Amino acid sequence: MPLKLGGGAAAFGAFLVLCVGFSLFAVTLAEDPYRFFNWNVTYGDIYPLGVRQRGILINGQFPGPDIHSVTNDNLIINVFNSLDEPFLLSWNGIQQRRNSFEDGVLGTTCPIPPGRNFTYILQVKDQIGSFYYFPSLNFHKAAGGFGGIRILSRPRIPVPFPDPDGDYTVLIGDWYKSNHTTLKAHLDRGKKLPLPDGILINGRGPNGAYLNVEQGKTYRLRISNVGLQHSLNFRIQNHKLKLVEVEGTHSLQTTYSSLDVHVGQSYSVLVTADQPAHDYYIVVSTRFNYKILTTTGVLHYSNSGGQVSGPIPGGPTIQIDWSLNQARSIRYYKSYILLIAHLVVNAYDELNLRTNLTASGPRPNPQGSYHYGLINTTKTIILASSAGQVNRKQRYAINSVSYVAPDTPLKLADYFKISGVFRAGSISDRPYGGGIYLDTSVLQADYRSFVEIVFQNNENIVQSYHLDGYSFFVVGMDGGQWTTASRNSYNLRDAIARCTTQVYPYSWTAIYVALDNVGMWNLRSEFWARQYLGQQFYLRVYTDSTSIRDEFPVPKNALLCGKASGRHTRPL
Ligand SMILES: *[C@@H]1O[C@H](CO)[C@@H](O)[C@H](O)[C@H]1NC(C)=O
Ligand SMILES: *[C@@H]1O[C@H](CO)[C@@H](O)[C@H](O)[C@H]1NC(C)=O
Ligand SMILES: *[C@@H]1O[C@H](CO)[C@@H](O)[C@H](O)[C@H]1NC(C)=O
Ligand SMILES: *[C@@H]1O[C@H](CO)[C@@H](O)[C@H](O)[C@H]1NC(C)=O
Ligand SMILES: *[C@@H]1O[C@H](CO)[C@@H](O)[C@H](O)[C@H]1NC(C)=O
Repeated sequence: MPLKLGGGAAAFGAFLVLCVGFSLFAVTLAEDPYRFFNWNVTYGDIYPLGVRQRGILINGQFPGPDIHSVTNDNLIINVFNSLDEPFLLSWNGIQQRRNSFEDGVLGTTCPIPPGRNFTYILQVKDQIGSFYYFPSLNFHKAAGGFGGIRILSRPRIPVPFPDPDGDYTVLIGDWYKSNHTTLKAHLDRGKKLPLPDGILINGRGPNGAYLNVEQGKTYRLRISNVGLQHSLNFRIQNHKLKLVEVEGTHSLQTTYSSLDVHVGQSYSVLVTADQPAHDYYIVVSTRFNYKILTTTGVLHYSNSGGQVSGPIPGGPTIQIDWSLNQARSIRYYKSYILLIAHLVVNAYDELNLRTNLTASGPRPNPQGSYHYGLINTTKTIILASSAGQVNRKQRYAINSVSYVAPDTPLKLADYFKISGVFRAGSISDRPYGGGIYLDTSVLQADYRSFVEIVFQNNENIVQSYHLDGYSFFVVGMDGGQWTTASRNSYNLRDAIARCTTQVYPYSWTAIYVALDNVGMWNLRSEFWARQYLGQQFYLRVYTDSTSIRDEFPVPKNALLCGKASGRHTRPL
């Protein structure tokens, strides 16, 4: 269990000696509470689909333990890698402001060698909501190592719905009976990923996952798609889902009978146990494929008079319009701004609005989406994916570049000014039209610019893109080719802010993002074979300032590898 210390002097002192020494970094962190986690990552037998598999466990658990935190907490997570191969965890949706070093992807952080440990120092600054962590290297994600992250609002910060009677993490995802080394070897040979063998709910196969409820009570379900490639539809027999939160943003509270959750996405819904005392099917099924995979779990009433029965409720299958319409209905909860407006005036600091709102621009956060629709974007980036072969092997690309990771994390190369690792501008900000080639693609953009990014999907699959370090406004999506005229259809009033967005087949999705977080940030396909085979790049959000107001220095405990080996993490 995580031990919560209230930021007392002793705890802080111990932490200071342990991890950070006398740096300013520690002083900056000192004001907010700490939570400490000790995690041992091991292999272990799991049987999610009835056959024995070698899973990746955290403290013996599959899925891994949840992280429970409160806005602004410092999370000190000491990860022991007891596997026989390098390992890294990344934190989907945790923004790590000014601190991309802790992001836990190959472009920012050296892998933890087998038998060694590394302590992540994260702060869930200004964030609320539901996210998850996952192992980012190789194909570890196919073996487990993932778990839920929840960030509760601080006491006295209003939440636009009553406290639920219970709060559940629901991790859903497609699953293979093959182990991760087999899947990786398959991709390394230049093959595509086969279809998965099933779907898991919280690491369990058919009717293995139980959510216990009491009749008449209301529960929050934090649903994340931690799978490898499939969009999934989530529904509960005879029950409605009231959407309340989307990747850290309170949403318009629309009630749905089922919800599409694309790979990498997270949602909170409220479910009221308002039916006769019985057990009900929780259903998760794949979308947009002719071969539909379905699994079920059980919503169990404590006074249940019977087991699950009746036909498993059906949901949408290949219908894209259904999904697009639902996506457009997912919007920001505007009245929440009004709800907290007086508090902004009365309790400015309590709300963490420490920076000047006028100057800090339209950064999405739990407190409000401000005025993003009134701000002119300063740059447009258009990103188009493609699939093809390079040297007779399957690769995937963005704007023709298929990403290859160098042996030195880009962020460390940047920090230590090591040349020859990457070139800023090694990927065009427009589709280039040529064939796929391999490179270490880094796109540079200015700190504090306000950028429009268009994901153009000219392929026949639903895509899902994630940007680390940020939350962005999803201002529009539609079929066909994006043109400047597409801007007329943008939602400039109440677009949802989130960190992972889908792009429908032969369609586009446009986002606005305020680049107010300096660092080296991974922009990737969440379709795991695609990111592994190159459909990703790094966004270098750049300033020439070296002030810690803009970016923290490399952590003192950072692992150093490649050309950064032997560097000093602090000038002497
Ligand atoms: C991790 O777990 C393994 C297997 O149970 C054990 O041998 C090892 O000592 C543990 N390491 C730590 C740091 O707890
Ligand atoms: C590894 O764990 C030990 C405590 O067992 C801790 O003192 C040390 O700082 C950790 N190493 C890193 C690099 O975080
Ligand atoms: C992974 O699966 C392959 C094929 O079934 C098997 O040969 C290999 O031993 C497995 N690896 C582990 C570590 O279980
Ligand atoms: C906030 O920033 C604006 C624009 O930079 C400036 O004009 C204003 O004086 C600032 N207000 C405060 C209270 O600092
Ligand atoms: C945005 O651009 C338009 C047209 O160039 C200009 O009229 C307007 O003042 C700008 N708005 C802001 C907030 O800068």
